[in-house]
Amino acid sequence: MAVPFSAHIVLNGRLLPSEQAHISVYNQALFTSFGVYESIQVDNGVSFHLDDHVDRLFQSAHYIQLPIEYDRQTIQGWVEELVETDALQESLLRILMFGPNGDEDTLVYILPGPLPHYDPTCYVRGTNAITFEGSRPIPQAKTLNTLVNYLAIRRARQKGAHEAFLVDEHDCLTEGSRSNLFVVAGGHITTPPAEQVLSGITRDLVWRMAQARGFEIREATVPRASLASVDEMFDTSTSMHIIPINQVDEQIIGEGEVGPVTRALIEEFESYYARVVRRQPAEALRSLHAAAGE
Ligand SMILES: Cc1ncc(COP(=O)(O)O)c(C=O)c1O
Repeated sequence: MAVPFSAHIVLNGRLLPSEQAHISVYNQALFTSFGVYESIQVDNGVSFHLDDHVDRLFQSAHYIQLPIEYDRQTIQGWVEELVETDALQESLLRILMFGPNGDEDTLVYILPGPLPHYDPTCYVRGTNAITFEGSRPIPQAKTLNTLVNYLAIRRARQKGAHEAFLVDEHDCLTEGSRSNLFVVAGGHITTPPAEQVLSGITRDLVWRMAQARGFEIREATVPRASLASVDEMFDTSTSMHIIPINQVDEQIIGEGEVGPVTRALIEEFESYYARVVRRQPAEALRSLHAAAGE
């Protein structure tokens, strides 16, 4: 059994010792994947964009018509209470919601876990990804049906790659196994349409930051063949923030280096992030560069 990360978890509003986080194998939601989830980064005791994550939890539930007996404020309050009670400083905190089972209510678990750390050199020098043929069912929703994500990231890890980008039946890249993707060509930024992907909280923030900086940004499909002519590429997620991609399968992206648009957005994002989690602005960036030996 994995060792619990925190002293407590929350189940439907009740603070319980972590050892009591169990679910029955008879729960149909396990078999049907009838459930939704969220992953939230806690840093310095601050849950980054918690309200947006809780909103998306409700949107995901709406897509699969999963009834929720609680309102947004209540669930948000449970997260805040757990972070405070266990004095969580750094965590990737999951809200897992399992659909109702027979006459039992929906189960809402709040489970803190360790925050994954990515090699700091990725942010400064870029990294590689692979493609994986497949798509998630109901891609707009963050459901418990994560098999395709898992198979994709497992293949990426076997090949020593940072991420796997899903490729659809039209040979277009849609999203990462746990991230959104962006390409830059001729100064324009493109990301696959929201209807085909999970619209990431980080994706939305990057979209707004790009617009505020005067970059042209649009939604459009990203054919695999177009990678040969893009200048830059990056992916985004709650725990990764923005990671530059230099190579996809055998295809080198642009000059194989981190380009100016990606670098500008990383700087913008990391300064914004530092402000929200009440850290010194640019501290994160400095430590990334220092860790990468630059
Ligand atoms: C399939 C998929 N796409 C995109 C993302 C990125 O979303 P966010 O920026 O909200 O973490 C995730 C996050 O886990 C994901 O699982």
